[in-house]
Amino acid sequence: MKRCSFKKTLAKENSNMSIDIENMDIKIFDMFKNHWALVTAGTLDDYNSCTVSWGTMGTLWTRPGKSGSIVTVFLHPARYTREFFQKYDKFTVSFYPKECKKALAYMGSHSGRDEDKAANAGLTPVEFGGSVAFAEAELTFVCKKLYQHQMTREDLAQEIQDYYIADPKAYPLNSEGEWEAHWVFIGDVLDVEDKRK
Ligand SMILES: Cc1cc2nc3c(=O)[nH]c(=O)nc-3n(C[C@H](O)[C@H](O)[C@H](O)COP(=O)(O)O)c2cc1C
Repeated sequence: MKRCSFKKTLAKENSNMSIDIENMDIKIFDMFKNHWALVTAGTLDDYNSCTVSWGTMGTLWTRPGKSGSIVTVFLHPARYTREFFQKYDKFTVSFYPKECKKALAYMGSHSGRDEDKAANAGLTPVEFGGSVAFAEAELTFVCKKLYQHQMTREDLAQEIQDYYIADPKAYPLNSEGEWEAHWVFIGDVLDVEDKRK
């Protein structure tokens, strides 16, 4: 696959937040849904990533010394990436220029169980804040995991249960032949790298 380019090496040790996150130019309802993101957890030797179009950003658990800026992502249990999110205490959420959309489509339609899909998508993994992101990203959040849990099926509105049931291709059944809801991962934003300007 033709590589999408990157502006500079994204590799720095996490320190204090280097960006005024509350004044960032973020179109949150547009970014995840229409432009997608890659979510990644692990180390350079042991990581996995997948494409997401579901995600939220906001404020939760503000407390002394903590702004409460959080990112939440939702991973179906069938995703290999979900295992890495459970195993590691940090994750990244990264957004890309238009030219990378094919790479994101690839990352969202192949599994890291089967191949080095980042290499096959033409993406360059880099260490970022004690986790892993990609050099081609134009906006990357590194987060410390504050919460993880799988949504309980019976607590979902019937229309959402029906949505899962209707699409076993997107949401594979578990070994008991039952549909499963997504895992929720809430991360405290530790740092952001914004290369958009
Ligand atoms: C545009 C797009 C958006 C997606 N959004 C999500 C999502 O929000 N949550 C999720 O669990 N899977 C989502 N997926 C599916 C995963 O990216 C896909 O199943 C991927 O192949 C999983 O890779 P893995 O097994 O290496 O983790 C999306 C796929 C695409 C193409």
